[in-house]
Amino acid sequence: MSNPSHPPAVGVLDQGPELIFPPGFLWGAATAAYQIEGAATEGGRTPSIWDRFSHTEGRVVNGHTGDVACDHYHRMPDDVRLMADLGLRSYRFSVAWPRVQPGGTGPANAEGLDFYQRLVDELLTHGIEPWLTLYHWDLPQPLEDAGGWPARDTAGRFADYAQLVADALGDRVTYWTTLNEPWCSAFLGYGSGAHAPGRSDGADAVRAGHHLMLGHGLAVQALRASRPQAQLGVTVNLYPVTPASDDPADADAARRIDGLANRFFLDPLLRGSYPADLVADLKEVTDFGHVRDGDLATIATPLDLVGVNYYSRHVVAAPVEGAERAPYWRAPSCWPGSEDVQFVTRGVPVTDMDWEIDAPGLVETLRRVHEEYTDLPLYVTENGSAFVDEVVDGRVDDVDRLAYFDAHLRAAHEAIAAGVPLHGYFAWSLMDNFEWAWGYTKRFGMVWIDYATQIRIPKSSARWYAEVIRRNGLAGQ
Ligand code: FCB
Repeated sequence: MSNPSHPPAVGVLDQGPELIFPPGFLWGAATAAYQIEGAATEGGRTPSIWDRFSHTEGRVVNGHTGDVACDHYHRMPDDVRLMADLGLRSYRFSVAWPRVQPGGTGPANAEGLDFYQRLVDELLTHGIEPWLTLYHWDLPQPLEDAGGWPARDTAGRFADYAQLVADALGDRVTYWTTLNEPWCSAFLGYGSGAHAPGRSDGADAVRAGHHLMLGHGLAVQALRASRPQAQLGVTVNLYPVTPASDDPADADAARRIDGLANRFFLDPLLRGSYPADLVADLKEVTDFGHVRDGDLATIATPLDLVGVNYYSRHVVAAPVEGAERAPYWRAPSCWPGSEDVQFVTRGVPVTDMDWEIDAPGLVETLRRVHEEYTDLPLYVTENGSAFVDEVVDGRVDDVDRLAYFDAHLRAAHEAIAAGVPLHGYFAWSLMDNFEWAWGYTKRFGMVWIDYATQIRIPKSSARWYAEVIRRNGLAGQ
């Protein structure tokens, strides 16, 4: 950041008025363990479902794996220095369960914990607030072999693991989120099978979703009891779901997908119940016999904050006779009971993931959580975009990504102005990394990674974001 030949990209995109965020707004960037750490077999770490999945032929584009990834495990101090150069106020990372509790049961692995202790100390030394996610999708493989998230016992295992991490880091970490995007773990992991462990069974996906939330509730209870000062929450990925037309059949399709994508999680976590219409939609899939007395009260254990990941909007229409199912992530289907709902593209600009760019959807999403569900502080725990980047003369001028961030920060500010208690924003991602089933073919980072040399190059968006943080807002025209 100090290289004078690389001036910050301030002014590239000053489209609107100056927008200043509330004092103390928590500016951060996010990553996840399996996506960046590498060192898959070092320090006593054992395989997770993502190791097994990525090493299974045909599961990940180009056979890519997280074996080396960004080699962050070895380069952590340099990476923290990079964060400090960018002026990050907070860094959201996840702990790899199989690194700190190999196999998912039994005692802690001191060497694994040591890595996160050093990371947290390094962050604190640089004045960066650690934000710890306990589960970003890397279930220890032996727990999957014992049934995975569709098995109730996994929830208890997760709470034990949470306790073990709290014992080691609870004196230094204030912000804790239990799960990252339980929708993906449940419905991509066990519904479509596009994510690890790659199983495809609608009833299992629904059970997995329930047990993930149960594990969350048990973990929150354990953390609350041992760390009363901690700020505890969960991260959900939410989408506005819009009917493609005003035909009531399209509205019903939107209601169904909203049920599965959003309300399946928001209602139990924040209201202590499953929505009746969702239960009815799923009646051919499951009778919800896996839900025991008391589960929903546990799931709704009070929180201190809610994390929202936002990327795009779903636009949907009623099933069409004989229509082809969408490929990749919706096949077999991550929408049990609503497999035939059509996902419509509107022809608006998309990212390299083919996700429509829809900044107003962030305002809608944040307002909905606040107005319909909770007064708790909200944080955008992920927001970002993949684009095809290019290194030219040692620089990466990612104007599309910068514009995406700019538009979404304007949306975040609009939400605050509308009364949403939004307390922070984490860009996804600090650096390019292993994008799950897409391997290294999709780049979301503000920092370019050359995977052959592990050289890091802050892109224009990183320089711009550093300036946003410095100003606590966006520059005017
Ligand atoms: C989210 C994940 C994150 C990353 C982004 C692009 O669903 O939480 O790990 O893959 O999408």
